[in-house]
Amino acid sequence: MAIAFKQETFRDDFSYRNSPENIRRFPFPFDRDEYMYAVNMESHVKGQKGTAFESLIDVDEHYVAEMHDRALVLKEDPLRYQALPHMMTAQWDTLELLMEEQAAGFPEHFTLIRNGDQWRWINRPLGIDDTFTFGDRSTLPYEPLEYITCQAQGDFCIVDQRDGNLWMDAGMVTTQADWSLDFDIGMNFMEWHGPVPLAHQMGVFDRALKFLLNLQQGKPTRRFNWTMTINPRLDTSPENYHKWGPDRATVTPENVGEKVHLRVEVQSLWRLPRSNAILFVIRCYLMNMNELVTVPKWARRFPRVLSTLPPELIDYKGLTRYRQTTIDWLSKFDDGAPTSPGT
Ligand code: HEM
Repeated sequence: MAIAFKQETFRDDFSYRNSPENIRRFPFPFDRDEYMYAVNMESHVKGQKGTAFESLIDVDEHYVAEMHDRALVLKEDPLRYQALPHMMTAQWDTLELLMEEQAAGFPEHFTLIRNGDQWRWINRPLGIDDTFTFGDRSTLPYEPLEYITCQAQGDFCIVDQRDGNLWMDAGMVTTQADWSLDFDIGMNFMEWHGPVPLAHQMGVFDRALKFLLNLQQGKPTRRFNWTMTINPRLDTSPENYHKWGPDRATVTPENVGEKVHLRVEVQSLWRLPRSNAILFVIRCYLMNMNELVTVPKWARRFPRVLSTLPPELIDYKGLTRYRQTTIDWLSKFDDGAPTSPGT
């Protein structure tokens, strides 16, 4: 069925909202009443229709508005897109993957026609119909990674594999939870994860790196990450901290429902065929507390998760200023009933 794309904003008047259907497909990440870092990776396989996993590259009602917001971010700050020169093959790999997955998952909106290396790409929601030569940069208006990630929801990093490590050598990052591609470009797996508390000592990153170095083509993997954001703002970057950081001090018992958002990242990892690089997709989903409490089991579970978070995670995720106000507001929806495992 065709998606009804919304006109909405992730800044200024913050008109972003989820429809009831979109709330039902929200990837709620907690399968128990507490949370701690883990190597929580599972096969990235298709789920049921009507979930965020109905296609391996998800497109939803926010697609057009998100692409508009990305264009605004790039206009202000072109360094949100970067690719080192040796990543050109991986860029084409990524273009192929995103076109194929979007066309397969949402044929009413996207079509890819391949005739040898002559490709035609039709993107109806954005009004694009382009013909180009696969592998020939001069036949596209931008580099292949920039071109296709301006037409795909989520952030994207391509990591190069060499010397038994992964290196962040390309990316399009405009919807990030307080980290910077411009700062991390060229770093390796342990270096860019440097600021994360507790996980290094727990051996999480050693095990995760080992797993990823052996990732096979055709067998993508995924994990959840989450944080919280005040107002439905996609661009919570260090570069723009002055715009969104102060929002954390504006939460009151009266405005929790509208202002406080759960921010979930469905992260998928794909081995790329020609370059042997790995594509890391960070697909961000936002839902305010008024929307969250429309699902009773989420309303029960989320305050319990927030209440039991280790202090290091509260600090790292930037929740200190408004966590207790949010727990207090949510607690009226928690009748104390036990929750069963699973989301
Ligand atoms: C956080 C990138 C894979 C676990 C981060 C951050 C970045 C990042 C940029 C933010 C660090 C900061 O504060 O500056 C990536 C990339 C990956 C990858 C590019 C793939 C190549 C993984 C995997 C795991 C993992 C496989 C599995 C254990 C984490 C955790 C955090 C984190 C636990 C902290 C998140 C939070 O509390 O909000 N990652 N990551 N990452 N990453 Fe990764």
